[in-house]
Amino acid sequence: MKLGLLSIAAVAAWALVGCGSDDKGASSASTAGPTSSATASTDNLPLVAFAQANSTDPWRQQFDAEIKAEAEKHKAEFNFEEQPGEDDANKQMGVISTFMVRSPKVLLVSPVTIAVQKEVEKAFDAKVPVILLDRGIPGDKYTVHVGGDNVEIGRQAGEFIAKQLKGKGTVLMIQGISNVDAATDRKNGAMETFKKYPGIKVVLGDDCKFQRQAAQNYMESYLQKGEPFDAVYAHNDEMAIGAFQAYDHFANKPKVKPLFVGIDGCQKEVIDMIKAGKLDATFRYPDPGPKGLQIAADIIKGNMPKDKKVVLPTELVTKENADKYLAENPNLAK
Ligand code: FRU
Repeated sequence: MKLGLLSIAAVAAWALVGCGSDDKGASSASTAGPTSSATASTDNLPLVAFAQANSTDPWRQQFDAEIKAEAEKHKAEFNFEEQPGEDDANKQMGVISTFMVRSPKVLLVSPVTIAVQKEVEKAFDAKVPVILLDRGIPGDKYTVHVGGDNVEIGRQAGEFIAKQLKGKGTVLMIQGISNVDAATDRKNGAMETFKKYPGIKVVLGDDCKFQRQAAQNYMESYLQKGEPFDAVYAHNDEMAIGAFQAYDHFANKPKVKPLFVGIDGCQKEVIDMIKAGKLDATFRYPDPGPKGLQIAADIIKGNMPKDKKVVLPTELVTKENADKYLAENPNLAK
């Protein structure tokens, strides 16, 4: 294989960003070097580069598997490479600038937080089409955004909880990363609904970073305080599981089991917990990977997307439709 100057510079720059030793278990980068998340690379094909937020949590692992499967279908058209940002905005900015050295034909970014805006804008200003997946950034310096409607998901989650509580009770909201639109939109959508129910009181819980363990720790300390609550609304399923586990292990449980509602619907574990009456509902947070990559393929063929926003649908999952959901989604993460 010929290694052109740019490729050498890119490999060197990649080494500087460091995707190795302190990899927090990121599944992709550690074993096979810089192209370990790439489809078998073919010289002379354009590069489609993907800066993922992380490759460790269940939703992202499924996202990665599906975007790679989609990339396989396009392997005669472009080389696809992915690097995770390990949930660190600075790291992700390094990943983007390293990709930019290699002049990608399309850049996909699933932002860690809005802090990566600057780097995304640099790419866009350099005339590289930028496709944002899932989380967004402020402003309009990107080509298209593909993702779920988090405000709508929040509204529907609020409606589900308010109805189950018959319009009366306390909702503890366990929040995702505070400078991520997915978290603020999920909060704002739910608050919009709760305002219509004067009997619903909301306790704004901590930013638990979308992580199970952080939510479990937070819930443990909340339970210790002995303050009453009737429902937990967590901004993702991992935090709903963590909160439920804290509740489940707590000696002085409230007599009536509170509701536990999450978002993502990508794990069999979650659907099984819903069937077992542990969690009460989740909302599918659609995987934007395949659609995002199809748009990239269109761009390479010369067709720029007409719309700036592609919204993918959600779906409520409860005990009532859990079996159907499992049957319709045989490839859920564990
Ligand atoms: C995964 C995740 C999902 C969540 C999404 C929001 O990193 O936290 O659980 O739905 O990101 O951006």
